[in-house]
Amino acid sequence: MRMLDIIIKKRENKPLTFEEFTFVANGAAKGTLPDYQLSSFLMACFLNPLSQKETALWTKAMAFSGQRLSFKDSKIPVADKHSTGGVGDGISLALAPLVACAGLAVPMMSGRGLGHTGGTLDKLESMKGFNIATPPKQIYKQIKAIGVCMFGQTKDLAPADKKLYALRDASGSVESRPLITASILSKKYAEGIDNLFIDVKFGSGAFMQKYEDSKKLAKMLVSTAKLMGLNCRALLTDMNEPLGRAIGNANEMLQSILILKGQKDFAPDFYEVLLESAAQMLIISKKQKDIKKAKVYLEKLIKDGSALKKLKEILKWQGADSKIADEPQKYLKNAKYQKDFVAKTNGYINNIDAKTCGMAAVLLGAGRNTMEDKIDYGAGIWLDKKSGDKVAKGQIIARLYANDKKKLEEGYKLFSQAVKISAKKPAPNKLIREIIK
Ligand code: URA
Repeated sequence: MRMLDIIIKKRENKPLTFEEFTFVANGAAKGTLPDYQLSSFLMACFLNPLSQKETALWTKAMAFSGQRLSFKDSKIPVADKHSTGGVGDGISLALAPLVACAGLAVPMMSGRGLGHTGGTLDKLESMKGFNIATPPKQIYKQIKAIGVCMFGQTKDLAPADKKLYALRDASGSVESRPLITASILSKKYAEGIDNLFIDVKFGSGAFMQKYEDSKKLAKMLVSTAKLMGLNCRALLTDMNEPLGRAIGNANEMLQSILILKGQKDFAPDFYEVLLESAAQMLIISKKQKDIKKAKVYLEKLIKDGSALKKLKEILKWQGADSKIADEPQKYLKNAKYQKDFVAKTNGYINNIDAKTCGMAAVLLGAGRNTMEDKIDYGAGIWLDKKSGDKVAKGQIIARLYANDKKKLEEGYKLFSQAVKISAKKPAPNKLIREIIK
């Protein structure tokens, strides 16, 4: 087989076979194909989009370009979740322990934050000692013992995607729906799961801002996952405003722990997405048949302390002090400098723009502009007010934290552009817009 023939075939818009996709994926993973040919192949796929069948074949080829975890012997359903990312989206931190205590095996592979979006791994690492570099042997052992492990992508899991994602970024072929689908699903398929729940965000802080674009991506993700033999559903959720009250790593970890402690009223939007996501995971994994009953069951697991106990087990297994879950405020500290953003007029919060908040958090030190940047775990934003809340002039809307006074000023300046106050109360927003089955 010759790479040139495959490129020309795709350039002529002819369907590729699994063998051809495998040749490309393995060549990318092993470094035996030059970047110029791989980039040319990606551009041909961008200009002549892969069909539904080709997308599934390409996904499988990339998933098999490295080691695929296997939970064949698991007596309980194996499931994971993917979010297309946003601001304040720390759902996974609470979701993994919650669904593990509801009887799922959860090998949860997550990523790092980049630009205005945060990453689960950074949030986990805000807990001193937490180890996300767990080799497959530990993943198997931990899942057998406690049903859940939260880890980062190893170099052996879908290595073709790592190489090809960087080339897409450098060659103008990122925004292809089939390529995005294959990139996301190859990593999930390599985890050896049978059940996948996906949260596709839309709105200013989302990967795709337009609702219709996000919906098309959600549909393609679900149909491709099903073609590959996974049980899958997706939610379309609003990311025009940050989810919950916390933005930043230690902050978001704190929020998730408080939720697992049963303090749901301070962040009802976060709680709504958490419960719906967890319930959908139980439905697709056939642990529950009825969504309402699933939610009642999950709430019970939070109220009786089981979910928090599961989080403590995760902390213990992965090197962090389980006392963090008992006294989160003591261990998950904010950065040393604080500046409050206060209302300049009376009125109602009309909107707090997610993307601007995410970028302000990066300026405070909570995120990265490039993968090499260092994160300041204590930097971030706590939203005292959210859309629809009444505010009086001088009242605190948000508290900003940084360990550097200059960064605090820069983050504050940008954050002040995120908040819109109106005289009239805005209509309530529908957070969970649609379920794609
Ligand atoms: N996330 C991924 O993992 N891959 C893409 O192509 C886009 C977003």
